[in-house]
Amino acid sequence: SDFDGNASYEFGLAMAKKAGAMIKDAFRRPKTVDTKTCDIDFVTDTDRAVEKMLLSEISARFPTHKFIGEEASADGTKNSLTAEPTWIIDPIDGTMNFIHRYPLVCVSIGLWVDKEPFAGFVFNPILDLFYSARKNEGAFLNGKRLHVSDTTSLSQSLVMFELGTARDPAKRESVIENFNRLLDRGHGFRSMGTCALNMCAVAEGGADAYFEYGVHSWDVAAGSLIVREAGGYVCDPSGGDLDVMSRRMLCAASPVLAHEICSLLFQIYPERDD
Ligand code: IPD
Repeated sequence: SDFDGNASYEFGLAMAKKAGAMIKDAFRRPKTVDTKTCDIDFVTDTDRAVEKMLLSEISARFPTHKFIGEEASADGTKNSLTAEPTWIIDPIDGTMNFIHRYPLVCVSIGLWVDKEPFAGFVFNPILDLFYSARKNEGAFLNGKRLHVSDTTSLSQSLVMFELGTARDPAKRESVIENFNRLLDRGHGFRSMGTCALNMCAVAEGGADAYFEYGVHSWDVAAGSLIVREAGGYVCDPSGGDLDVMSRRMLCAASPVLAHEICSLLFQIYPERDD
């Protein structure tokens, strides 16, 4: 097709910066907060404004490109990922943190082409951390090349682990069961409250692995490329290939470590994004 990689990459970078400026501007101001699927699943006026801005900019610049956004999907709209260039966007990943002014928040923008990640941008404008990756060209933090750790064993690992933003019993049970299974086997566990920044932590070698059941395509679309381009491994928590619409994700510094963790996990299969 007539996909222009350079133009799309530069545009995505500019959009992440523009979205980041909106998030930073709103961070310390009073917020309008609504709930979505349950009483701890939030959306703010800023989530909506950022997504609206991105959708209108993208459709003006690349009218043929597709768009999958968290807030556009909040009414239960299903998305199918096609081979067309598709922007997969979380306007604010870490909305709970944003509401509490806990400074781990970011915009996550992934551009997928032929059902593969082509570019990924994760920007935390509060701490000024800009993660970026382009297919086959490496991953960067504020322009500096990233590499995953050389950890190959769970016994030596710091593992990112999320409680999630759902109250349903199946999700809760899986969180508790998996924490019980892993707790005594790793060095330690951390939770940043944003999937995209957890993935970037693995990419930069600050953490060794991360998995979560119940994440959405917009949470992992950018981070999965950033981890891979930093030399890391991203897969389904069963050990199979990552399916970005499956709401299941595991990433690690190495395939050996990924498969060790996969073999220990209690599996759940949340309702898909498509
Ligand atoms: C959520 C965050 C959270 C993760 C959830 C995500 P949101 O995204 O990444 O850390 O545990 O699974 O849905 O709602 O803040 O965009």
